[in-house]
Amino acid sequence: MTGIAIVGLGHWGPNLAGGFGVDPRARVRRLVDVDAARLARVAARVPGARTTTRLEDALEDPEVDAVVVATPTSTHRAIAGAALLAGKHVLVEKPMAASVRECEELCALAGRAGRILMVGHVFLFNAAVRRAKAYVDEGALGRVYYLSMVRTNLGPVRADVNAAWDLASHDLSIAMHLLGAGPVSVSATGGSWLNPGIEDAVFATARFRGDVLAHLHASWLHPRKAREVVVVGERRMLTFDDMNLTEPLRLYDKGVAPGGAGEGVVDSFASFRSSIREGDIVIPRVATGEPLREECRCFLDAIERGEAPLSDGRFGLEVVRALEAISRSVAGGGREEPVLR
Ligand SMILES: NC(=O)c1ccc[n+]([C@@H]2O[C@H](COP(=O)([O-])OP(=O)(O)OC[C@H]3O[C@@H](n4cnc5c(N)ncnc54)[C@H](O)[C@@H]3O)[C@@H](O)[C@H]2O)c1
Repeated sequence: MTGIAIVGLGHWGPNLAGGFGVDPRARVRRLVDVDAARLARVAARVPGARTTTRLEDALEDPEVDAVVVATPTSTHRAIAGAALLAGKHVLVEKPMAASVRECEELCALAGRAGRILMVGHVFLFNAAVRRAKAYVDEGALGRVYYLSMVRTNLGPVRADVNAAWDLASHDLSIAMHLLGAGPVSVSATGGSWLNPGIEDAVFATARFRGDVLAHLHASWLHPRKAREVVVVGERRMLTFDDMNLTEPLRLYDKGVAPGGAGEGVVDSFASFRSSIREGDIVIPRVATGEPLREECRCFLDAIERGEAPLSDGRFGLEVVRALEAISRSVAGGGREEPVLR
C-alpha cells in the first residue's frame, strides 16, 4: 500500500486525490494546503486523510511514501525538492518547475535519493493520444509533415506563468510524445493585456528534426474552449478533438502525392487535382477511460517496480526546455531561438 500526500488542493489537487482514491494500491493519508478553508472543503471528500497547512507534517509522516505536488508552478521546485530530500517519491504537476535549472536540480535530487520523479503530463495517458501515437509509430500517417494545436478558453488566468507554460505545455508534451523527441528551435510571439509581463496568448512555432513543424496557439483570453490537435502526414491526416467525448479521434485517408501527374512535382492546378487523394475517414473506437487514473496507476507502477514512468523527470525537463526557448523568443520579438540542451 502506497501512502500518498497531496499538496495543493485548488482546482486540480482534488482530482488527483480522486485518482489515487480509487486505486486499491494507494491510500491518501495527508492533504496539505496553505489555505485552511480549502483543506476543510476537500477533506470531506477524502475519508481517512488527515489535513495540515504544514508541508513538514506530511514529510515527517512515515506512512507517507509519495508526495503529489499540485500547487502553482512557481512553488514546485521547493516542495518537490523537500519531498525528495525527505525520501519520498514525487509526482509533480506540469509544468515541472519554473526553469530548466530548477528541473535539472529536481532530476539530480531524485537520482541521488533513488526515488521516482514523475511529471503530471496527463495527455500521455489519454487513450486518444495513445492511439494517435500507435498510428504514427506504425507508419499509418507516413512521414509526419506538421502539427497544428489549439488550446484556448476564457480562464483560468495564472499569475505565475504565462499561457504557454500553462496551456502549451500540454501540446508540447503531446507533440514530443508523438514525435519521440523535443523541438530543436522555436519562434513565438505573445501578448500581455491582463497582467504586465504574463502573456495571456502565445502563438508559437516549434521546429523538430526532419523538417517537422508544430504550431501552437495557447490562450486563456478567448471566447471559445478548444482543445484541438491536427497531425498532417504524407499518407494520412489525423485530428484529435478533446472536447468531443465520444469520438475524439479521426483518421483521414487524404493527401497529395507529389508526382501524381507523373512529373514528381505539383506545379499546376491540373497536376494538383490529379495527385489529390480523398479516401475514407475512420473514427476509431477509443476507450473512454479516465486519463488521470491512468497517470496515477503509472506512478504507482513505477514505485512498485522501481522503473522510470512514461512522463519522468527527464521528459518534464525537455518540455520546460522548449517553454524556456518560447519565453526567450517572445522576449526577443519572435526571433527563432534554439532549444538549449
Ligand atoms: N494536468 C492538468 O491537466 C492540470 C490541470 C490543471 C492544473 N494543473 C497544474 O496543477 C497545478 C495547480 O493548478 P491549480 O489549477 O489547481 O491551481 P490553484 O491555484 O487552483 O490551486 C493551487 C493550490 O495550491 C495551494 N498552495 C499554494 N502554495 C502552496 C504551498 N506552498 N504549499 C501548499 N499549498 C499551496 C493554494 O492554496 C491552492 O489551494 C499547476 O501546476 C497547474 O499547471 C494541471
